[in-house]
Amino acid sequence: MSQPHDRYVRIFDTTLRDGEQSPGATLTSAEKLDVAKALSRLGVDIIEAGFPAASPDDLAAVQSIAAGVGTEPVLGRPSAEPPIICALARASEGDLDKAWEAVRLAVRPRLHTFLATSPIHREHKLRMSREEVLRRAERMVAYARQLTPDVEFSPEDAGRTEPEFLYQVLEAVIAAGATTLNIPDTVGYTLPHEFGALIEGIMQHVRGIEGVTVSVHCHDDLGLATANTLAGLRAGARQAEVTINGIGERAGNTALEEVVMALHVRRASFGLETGIDTTGLVRTSKLVSSRTGLVVQPNKAIVGANAFAHESGIHQDGMLKHEQTYEIMRPETVGAGRTQLVLGKHSGRHAFAARLRELGFPLEGEPLESAFSRFKLLAEKKKSVTDADLTALAATEGDAGAAAFVLEDLHVSCGTGGLPTASVRLRGPDGTVHVRASVGTGPVDAVFKAIDEVVAAPSELVEYSVTAVTEGIDALGESSVRVRARQGDPRLSPQHLATRPALFHGHGADTDIIVASTKAYLGALNRLLASLAPAEAQPDVGSEARA
Ligand code: KIV
Ligand code: ZN
Repeated sequence: MSQPHDRYVRIFDTTLRDGEQSPGATLTSAEKLDVAKALSRLGVDIIEAGFPAASPDDLAAVQSIAAGVGTEPVLGRPSAEPPIICALARASEGDLDKAWEAVRLAVRPRLHTFLATSPIHREHKLRMSREEVLRRAERMVAYARQLTPDVEFSPEDAGRTEPEFLYQVLEAVIAAGATTLNIPDTVGYTLPHEFGALIEGIMQHVRGIEGVTVSVHCHDDLGLATANTLAGLRAGARQAEVTINGIGERAGNTALEEVVMALHVRRASFGLETGIDTTGLVRTSKLVSSRTGLVVQPNKAIVGANAFAHESGIHQDGMLKHEQTYEIMRPETVGAGRTQLVLGKHSGRHAFAARLRELGFPLEGEPLESAFSRFKLLAEKKKSVTDADLTALAATEGDAGAAAFVLEDLHVSCGTGGLPTASVRLRGPDGTVHVRASVGTGPVDAVFKAIDEVVAAPSELVEYSVTAVTEGIDALGESSVRVRARQGDPRLSPQHLATRPALFHGHGADTDIIVASTKAYLGALNRLLASLAPAEAQPDVGSEARA
């Protein structure tokens, strides 16, 4: 096996072993194989494929990974060498035999055995003395070493073990043939400065340590797993045991993506590197999440849905000026697609106008102001405003500009009992406020009738439709209305009808479909009313022409 240089950190992934111990995450053999292949493609150095003594199924799954990963070149794997396939075993011959049976067909097999060393585990779980623990560890590493030259030993709960005893155990297992010493903070208890000091102490006091790889394995019970792992690497460890998305026992393990990206983004500080293809991080995270059913929280570092999403107006403005104002890494580097400027209630005009331009609506001046205030109202109601919402908003911009009657208030009451009733408050072209109530066959009919009483336009409703433009319960509804100028109305002279369009179109968009319908209807009526003025004086109101 070629030795990497001394600034290289081996990534040991235990998603399929410690990660699979997450409550609720059980994978079939086929799913495990899929994940193992993805880990290999990502560039993971060692895949801990499982704990074969746990069940015949576990043994079979590890066997299929040993036979199926690394035996042929993996498309896209950054390293020419196949990954090491590792199996976990308690410190017993029986476990080690099963583990060996599972991995022996791998191109590069490893056995990983562990025995708890902390006082609490010795006394209450193992009921063994220090001496017994020491001898068992030594014997089992020697046993494993007879099976394979690549043997890893973990003193379980090292973080709470007396340092001098830990040094003793580590020296004994090095002498017995261990090639990797993994130091677990099994219960996620240590603080970064303590864990760093623990590794430093091991590097200084354990005889023979320079000839083996020191590894760190941290749990996240205090949310410190990544910080502890990095502290361990700074202190000289050169293997990090991690899982995708940080899944694992209780609060989980150190997240692979966090350690890899911390070393990458802050390489000037650490001077360390890994063999991971960072552009595969999001893809692998998604695969593990879908196979395990463990959903990734949106604000999860590196791979969360919001990791590259900016909502605050100040942040969006900064991002539009220079992406490094609020991003320490590019989303493409981790395979996350592009930065998202999520438009919501905190977004500013600058980001709003930029997104509209991208969508093909280069609004400026008054139309932009008007669309922006409608967007703010919508964002108050809807958590995030999608491109479809924006398109609907921008496409209906101008309807309000043509308005002669403006909707100020609307109230609707409907249901299974009583008549659908609507009351509307409209401000007319001369500033007068009109309030009317009406009943109808349904809420929309009631609103339209109340509006008709105020506006008294020479119109007939020709077409009315409502569609949901976005998905979900808070979807934006879009309404489209067409009205026709009523033939014979004295306000429509024959000459006027000959030169003016006789069909008038209105559009409305809102999270409330009754409001969307009201806006659409009023828009259509306003256009019709505008057409009643002398033709020469009319601005182009964008109505649909029908001869
Ligand atoms: O957390 C732990 O101590 C472990 C060992 C088996 C390495 O997972
Ligand atoms: Zn663990």
